[in-house]
Amino acid sequence: MALVGCGSGLPAASISNDQLSERVDTNDDWIRSRTGIGSRRVAGADESITSLGLKAAQAALDHAGWQASDVDLVLLATSSPDDLFGSAPRIQGALGAIHAVAFDLTAACSGFLFALVTAGQYIRSGTVRRALVIGADQLSRWVDWDDRRTCVLFGDGAAALAVEACPAADDGLVGFRLRSDGRRGDSLTLNQIEQRTPLVQGLDAQVGGFTPIRMNGQEVFKFAVREVPAVLRELLEGTGTDAADLDWLLLHQANQRILDAVADRFGIPHERVLSNLVHYGNTSAATIPLMLDEAVRDGRVQPGHLLGCSGFGAGLSWGAALLRWRGPAA
Ligand code: ACO
Repeated sequence: MALVGCGSGLPAASISNDQLSERVDTNDDWIRSRTGIGSRRVAGADESITSLGLKAAQAALDHAGWQASDVDLVLLATSSPDDLFGSAPRIQGALGAIHAVAFDLTAACSGFLFALVTAGQYIRSGTVRRALVIGADQLSRWVDWDDRRTCVLFGDGAAALAVEACPAADDGLVGFRLRSDGRRGDSLTLNQIEQRTPLVQGLDAQVGGFTPIRMNGQEVFKFAVREVPAVLRELLEGTGTDAADLDWLLLHQANQRILDAVADRFGIPHERVLSNLVHYGNTSAATIPLMLDEAVRDGRVQPGHLLGCSGFGAGLSWGAALLRWRGPAA
């Protein structure tokens, strides 16, 4: 699977830490020093997972130089679809990707990595030649805007990668490891509400709806700084790769302190750690492709560069992948 195009779809409105501090008891200094976040994009009434995902998918399609009818698979990683039955088909339809099968995949902040690996399996099996993998989340829908421990962390956004079949020797998915541990899932949840309605004698039916995001920040922090280095190390050893061979470390953008801690564990200089948290906060499934798109467009990531990538989040779920960027055909 070759990584040949990328694109982003961001909400227009940005909210600064100072603006947030007018709503909840927080301040710019606390948020920046604990997380690295300075502002975040938040979707307005005329924006949605479908519209942001479509923008990202179209940009990736254009970057790769494909026609929409060339696409065989549209995979949308999201935990906040517009429609619980799936938002990927809406994007596929609006894009005009008439030959593509489209579906959603949910693995919280690890979702993009899980979806990219999934697309890789379809491509390697020969079932699919060209795929668009989108990471999109609109967690502003599910954040408790009165809970300062969580509302300062998240932002909305979408980004996509265009990937296609290639000779095995050129495969840009150099290796991967994916992990889940539902036993620890309670530390970060977006749960079904506990409300029932009497239906027939002896049966109360569940009322649909979700509670806002609940998080034990310290548990999630400890989980990330323990598991991300462990899974990355396993991947590096398994593929015979030295950390010094990585051109870039591209981690899920949750917290600058997590990025720095992981880099330090491998002796990777902070200049080689990609970070755009300051502008967007944690956009969940979108952070990895959003960061990659920015670094490709500004020329930091060049064709042939090797990226050590890791996603982690609710589930709990986490994983790592070694990716080689190819870019569009010249
Ligand atoms: N502004 C001001 N004060 C705050 C804020 C805020 N926004 N939030 C919490 N505080 C206060 C707390 O109330 C507490 O005060 P107290 O000591 O008087 O009780 C104090 O700051 C310290 O709170 P902690 O929770 O201990 O702060 P910590 O240093 O752990 O930082 C943080 C919190 C930033 C959330 C950190 O734990 C973290 O980054 N964890 C990882 C979270 C994460 O990455 N989540 C996303 C995972 S990805 C996904 O799948 C969605």
